[in-house]
Amino acid sequence: NKGKYEHYMQKEIHEQPESLTTTMRGRLIRGGSCKAKTVLLGGLKDHLKTIRRSRRIVFIGCGTSYNASLAARPILEELSGIPVTMEIASDLLDRQGPIYREDTAVFVSQSGETADTLNALEYALENGALCVGITNTVGSAIARKTHCGVHINAGAEIGVASTKAYTSQIVVMAMLALAIGGDLISSQERREAVIDGLFDLPSKVKEVLKLDQEMKDLAKLLIAEQSLLVFGRGYNYATALEGALKVKEVALMHSEGILAGEMKHGPLALVDETLPIFVIATRDACFSKQQSVIQQLHARKGRLIVMCTKGDAASVCVGGSCRVIEVPQAEDCLQPVINIVPLQLLAYHLTVLRGHNVDQPRNLAKSVTTE
Ligand code: UD1
Ligand code: BG6
Repeated sequence: NKGKYEHYMQKEIHEQPESLTTTMRGRLIRGGSCKAKTVLLGGLKDHLKTIRRSRRIVFIGCGTSYNASLAARPILEELSGIPVTMEIASDLLDRQGPIYREDTAVFVSQSGETADTLNALEYALENGALCVGITNTVGSAIARKTHCGVHINAGAEIGVASTKAYTSQIVVMAMLALAIGGDLISSQERREAVIDGLFDLPSKVKEVLKLDQEMKDLAKLLIAEQSLLVFGRGYNYATALEGALKVKEVALMHSEGILAGEMKHGPLALVDETLPIFVIATRDACFSKQQSVIQQLHARKGRLIVMCTKGDAASVCVGGSCRVIEVPQAEDCLQPVINIVPLQLLAYHLTVLRGHNVDQPRNLAKSVTTE
């Protein structure tokens, strides 16, 4: 049931304040006077000790689920102190990459049925790793075959392009980082800030959804383009990859997510006065580096669209003519949840304006159950 919406993708983008609330329901505890702020993931509580003892945490997934893991990686590394690596399921299998008994392998899948991810799970089970699932589908193959896990509880997702599952996956992985971080005194302040940030997230997502019309206007400007580059780094490298994936899969426009730190190692050659470039430059430890990326793109007359934190328009677009999109600020590690929303809206409007099928893009399937 699409309710008041024309498409499932549109509905699923707009219901993110509610889906995120459901994802967190009963799992965050903001204590009273004596209780500390903590996180409770029922499916993992008996396994946390084993996870904390593991030598490595390896995330395995495909498409959007892989991107969500990439978004959560920095906070997982920070709070767990355990090395975190990333694997695209098919690539792990192609290489028969090493997986050890001392590893915690986390399988991320909205559907819980993706063949590549399931095959990688069989492989990790054979190699003796602790296998954890993060899935949206109770009773799915991945939920059943993993040793333990967390349901993201985002509600059924119908649109082939994943939107609300992506943001809920990031939130679950941030909660996973908090749970693994446990009660380490050294990071208590940070953990409490992240928990406060999680509580505030649904209302901030509601706020960023107000950019709908602005993103529609931007889509009108970009309607006839052949290509769109999306630059991000740090917490928002994943946002660049995921934003580009959305544009590519539904709007059928070439789009590429680029790690801004790699700009001079190739992508800069593409920059001219015609190619549109979307730069994510919200406030975090990488902000000044992104400011200098913007200046260099400017110097080459790049056609810039810059996403920045509210109030920062003047400091990201000094003397320039770029288009600016201002978003609310969240705790840095949760900012990817906010920042993806305008890109989801852009992909949605571009698709409708270009006359393509939003909910069932050409050649794609919601759940890819063959290799
Ligand atoms: C569970 C109940 C929820 C109830 C809550 C009350 C289910 C599905 N969930 O939620 O309805 O409100 O207790 O405390 O009945 N699991 C895997 N692999 C996965 C995902 C999950 O093995 O990929 C396992 C978990 O380890 C756990 C079980 O499935 O044993 C349920 O997981 P989850 O729904 O996340 O647990 P709770 O949030 O505790
Ligand atoms: C398909 C979908 O390719 O599978 C994507 O079209 C999705 O949207 C990917 O990200 C992975 O799916 P899942 O269910 O394993 O998260």
